[in-house]
Amino acid sequence: MSNMINLNSIIFNGVDVTKIDVQVQLSAGFAKPEFNIIGLADRAVKESAERIRNALAALNISLPAKKLTVNLSPADIEKTGSHFDLPILCGILCAMEILPESELGKYVIIGEIGLDGAIVRTGGVLPASVWANNNNLGIICPGAQGAEARWAGHTNILAPNHILDLINHFNGSQILPVPQMIQYSESENKIGDLSEVHGQESAKRALEIAAAGGHAMLMIGPPGSGKTMLASRLPTIMPEMTVNEVLETSIIYSIAGKLDGGSLISNRPFRGVHHTASPVALAGGGSDAKPGEISLAHNGVLFLDELPEFSRATLEILRQPMESGKIVISRAKRNAVYPAHFQLIAAMNPCPCGHLGNAALSCSRAPRCAEAYQNKISGPLLDRIDLHVDVDAVNPWEMQSNDDKPVETSAQVRERVVAARKRQLTRQGCVNALLDGADMDKYIVLSDELTAFLNDAAQKMGMSARGYNRVKRLARTIADLRRDDNISMSDLAEALSYRSINRGKYGVKR
Ligand SMILES: Nc1ncnc2c1ncn2[C@@H]1O[C@H](COP(=O)(O)OP(=O)(O)OP(=O)(O)O)[C@@H](O)[C@H]1O
Ligand SMILES: [Mg+2]
Repeated sequence: MSNMINLNSIIFNGVDVTKIDVQVQLSAGFAKPEFNIIGLADRAVKESAERIRNALAALNISLPAKKLTVNLSPADIEKTGSHFDLPILCGILCAMEILPESELGKYVIIGEIGLDGAIVRTGGVLPASVWANNNNLGIICPGAQGAEARWAGHTNILAPNHILDLINHFNGSQILPVPQMIQYSESENKIGDLSEVHGQESAKRALEIAAAGGHAMLMIGPPGSGKTMLASRLPTIMPEMTVNEVLETSIIYSIAGKLDGGSLISNRPFRGVHHTASPVALAGGGSDAKPGEISLAHNGVLFLDELPEFSRATLEILRQPMESGKIVISRAKRNAVYPAHFQLIAAMNPCPCGHLGNAALSCSRAPRCAEAYQNKISGPLLDRIDLHVDVDAVNPWEMQSNDDKPVETSAQVRERVVAARKRQLTRQGCVNALLDGADMDKYIVLSDELTAFLNDAAQKMGMSARGYNRVKRLARTIADLRRDDNISMSDLAEALSYRSINRGKYGVKR
């Protein structure tokens, strides 16, 4: 006679959760213990058997001389990851009547097992806990991640540090407490303030417009002018994250295994990506299907420093998510979708040596080397960047602080950004950069005079249809910062001034 145990676990596809039944069966009639895991399991899952054998040995539990079969169902979904260790081990202990199946069946179980029986951290505890709560189940997860599970808004959580803790809990000798929530502490995530950047008034203005309307921005200028410094301050002038945004972003970090310390991501993320990053690192995917940098920047800022140094293949990845706010990763069996709604900010020197236009410092190859350098960035990508801004070297006298002219803090700029965003959300439900199609015609209205002006400029600048619409969106944001329902000529002129990389001080012909 055999008795099949059935426990609940889950698997992720992008941020979507699918329930997996972990079925364990002991069948009699074998002289030696045998252990098989079936159900389209990958290598990490197959290695489970080895970890579990060791953990059982550490507990002084020997497998009965029976055939032990573990089936992960449904069998047509590929199972990846090591988080099936704990549900499989629990299933075995249920089959041996060491744990009560009737109780364990009320939980979603995830966790990796160490060789000594310790329950080790695993990715995805937060979305697993959210899913469990929505499906009237509790969650059993690693002890270190109990606080993370709490953020799903329920207390039906068991977070043992060791498999013995779980056994003791169910035999009543040591009840596991409900894990404590860990509040985010302000000091842990200190980034600089905009007031620390001296001078650069026009770049700061562009940064404010970018934050207000969700527009992508490219800064171009010589080394040491403060481009990286400006970019890193962008999150400090964006609105505080909403509760929903905090949860969305934290779920991505949880799946990536990057939600440390049990608190959520409550400051807008800033992801600076190095130009040697591979397309997979940026987009996500790979053998373990983890979210990439553009998804870790979801609801925050993606910073690409030294833009022309990135490979074309890497940059082209950005085109689709910049318009749709998500990335679709093709996988062998199913596509995975990760949210990727980020604010792009990029920086570059005008040429490889960085000093184009500076008679004292530039090299003898100017301006040809600058042309080759800047043309490494593809037209379609540049077309998606609304704000192109020259960032000149700061004058020495601007570097001294001046008490007569107080510099604005991030908090002061953020107030204007928040007001401008509120106008956009009430009017149309999204930021201006995401307005599209009929909504765009409905909400961005230019007078006849302004239309004629823009048409003329577009023709002279050889602007694409996309570029044309982007200027309109930018002008709308500039008017929103003025708290005006009507776009003025100066709004439109300012928007046009940010349009073209090849007309600025450092720009070259394309
Ligand atoms: N406008 C500024 N105000 C205050 N400090 C500045 C400014 N510009 C540069 N600095 C100082 O110079 C350092 C380098 O600036 P930053 O890294 O932002 O330059 P960059 O434009 O990114 O240069 P690169 O092109 O070499 O990457 C900063 O850490 C800061 O100390
Ligand atoms: Mg820099």
